[in-house]
Amino acid sequence: MVSRVIPVDPFDLVIFGGTGDLARRKILPGLYRRFLAGQMPPDSRIIGAARAELDDAGFRLMVGDAIAEFVPKDRQDKAQVAAFLDRIGYVSIDAKGTGGWEQLKGRMRPNVVRAFYFSVAPALFGDLAERLHAHGIADAWSRIVVEKPFGRDLASARALNAVLAEHFDEHQIYRIDHYLGKETVQNLMAVRFANILFEPLWKAEYIDHVQITVAETVGVEGRGAYYDKSGAMRDMVQNHLMQLLCLIAMEPPYHFDPDAVRDEKLKVIRALDAVKPEDIVRGQYLGGGGQGGYVEHSENPNSRTESYIALKCHISNWRWKGTPFYLRTGKRLRARASEIAITFKEPPHSIFDDAKGWRENVLVIRLQPNEGMNLMMMIKEPGPGGMRLMQVPLDMSFADALGADAEDIPDAYERLIMDVIRGNQTLFMRGDEVEAAWAWADPIIAGWEGRGDRPQGYDPGSSGPEDALMLMHRDGRRWREIKG
Ligand SMILES: NC(=O)c1ccc[n+]([C@@H]2O[C@H](COP(=O)([O-])OP(=O)(O)OC[C@H]3O[C@@H](n4cnc5c(N)ncnc54)[C@H](OP(=O)(O)O)[C@@H]3O)[C@@H](O)[C@H]2O)c1
Repeated sequence: MVSRVIPVDPFDLVIFGGTGDLARRKILPGLYRRFLAGQMPPDSRIIGAARAELDDAGFRLMVGDAIAEFVPKDRQDKAQVAAFLDRIGYVSIDAKGTGGWEQLKGRMRPNVVRAFYFSVAPALFGDLAERLHAHGIADAWSRIVVEKPFGRDLASARALNAVLAEHFDEHQIYRIDHYLGKETVQNLMAVRFANILFEPLWKAEYIDHVQITVAETVGVEGRGAYYDKSGAMRDMVQNHLMQLLCLIAMEPPYHFDPDAVRDEKLKVIRALDAVKPEDIVRGQYLGGGGQGGYVEHSENPNSRTESYIALKCHISNWRWKGTPFYLRTGKRLRARASEIAITFKEPPHSIFDDAKGWRENVLVIRLQPNEGMNLMMMIKEPGPGGMRLMQVPLDMSFADALGADAEDIPDAYERLIMDVIRGNQTLFMRGDEVEAAWAWADPIIAGWEGRGDRPQGYDPGSSGPEDALMLMHRDGRRWREIKG
């Protein structure tokens, strides 16, 4: 199976924050990989911009180092790296200042796609948008890419949308949620909407419940003070887990078209019920094994910010009434693992003796590690001894299915940046979607703040607080094991 690489149109991509962590770890190595794959046309240019006083040569050195550090060794072809670096430049600019803008303007070429990646703190988005226009650098065809966090509540998200809307139309704004760029997440749409198999069963009548898990092993050390102002609900649930929930729950769009897909996702968010306090469990990891706990890492002994959250959500519409969606995400957990598990109901009547190993069908979509899908089926246990049933996986790992081509699957950032150049917004969040997600999250957060709830401690390397287990147990269900 050969993955087709279709080159995008030539572009000038300016990365504000080009010297930052995200640019070094993800954006620049990703662009190099697309260059290597033949997707980035040779007459494209990448221009880094930040306050640091660097020249082109200095920035190229930095990008070369980033490639050496973050691209697998077998992909680091010397000649290709040199050819890629030839396409890179740098302009020193303060987003809040006046210097450098005319120089940047002089670097931009006519008749190529212009894209501006705002890989800086959101507080600078307005300054960048305003100055790009004031200096005539952005035009009606230019695109801007903005990073998370997109606000910390509805009011701040609205304010950000408003400030961007002063200078750019919605069709020019690409709000990144890198979960949407993951191969498996897009496959979720293919599985649902390119097969007749699941769609008739994809409803409360046949689905018992859905679990969405995003588990990390890392803590917040090094960025604890920053994280403490946000927490798992703002950092993960309002955006990433919400997007996954939407893709599972949405109605089939009339076409695989940006607004058709985003309209359907928006309807799901708007149909979400308020979450009851008893359906929320928040946790903070404790110290152990010579490592500090959350309160030490956040340098806030009185912190009430959650490093773990589990929620039971309901969607009030015809398709989903009565099927709970359980979401959980946390840091310092047993394994780094993200998956969506759709558990189907048992058949209405068993012709087999129930004692003989009855289990339900589960469709598991693994986002990491080992991206792929797994359908748990019941079959007869082989051999004599009567009709005993056993559960077996129909397992599709992308790495196995695609063989050597799997290595060329672009990572989320690579794919999303190429989509920006193509002008395809399907995998980016629209302004109204982000606002609707905050409108759902805000009262939940205000609820625990008003009650003065404290997160429950949990052991590092565990699967989260005890109460999270109870959230499922009291419904007669169990979380799936968190496995790496
Ligand atoms: N790192 C990640 O994994 C990650 C993941 C998701 C989202 N994000 C988001 O991506 C954005 C960038 O994150 P980061 O981790 O790369 O941050 P970072 O390492 O702190 O880098 C910030 C970048 O912005 C530049 N900068 C700061 N103030 C500036 C100004 N006034 N004018 C122009 N440039 C300025 C910095 O360079 P100078 O100091 O030289 O100006 C640097 O290049 C943030 O919005 C963050 O929330 C990051």
